[in-house]
Amino acid sequence: MKIDHIGIAVESLDQALAPYRDCLGLEAGDVDEVEDQGVRVAMLPVGETRIELLEPTRDDSPVRKFLTRRGPGIHHIAVEVDNIEETLDRFRAAGARLINDTPQTGAGGSRIAFIHPSSVGGVLLELVQHGR
Ligand code: CO
Repeated sequence: MKIDHIGIAVESLDQALAPYRDCLGLEAGDVDEVEDQGVRVAMLPVGETRIELLEPTRDDSPVRKFLTRRGPGIHHIAVEVDNIEETLDRFRAAGARLINDTPQTGAGGSRIAFIHPSSVGGVLLELVQHGR
């Protein structure tokens, strides 16, 4: 198990990418648009994990709402799991507030689900299961 990525909400991918690229030497792969979540996503590999920069693509995007309410910053932490349904079931049984009852499609064809910050210490938690 590991931190799959740390999601950071930004107003502009182009602007936000510059210091990671120019000062840290991190290279983003292709920018991916995730229609379901209303975001454009740039993933920056950092050792075993990644930084995920998120730019909203529409006004009803959850990331747009986050930026309006709180400004740019850490939006979520994503943990890789082997079986996302089983993990969701455990959160459900523990009485956690689930944002997604069933897995959604995430960046790169992964399957993802979010747990509400109020159930996990105040930071939105994303579960990620990668395809094999
Ligand atoms: Co994410």
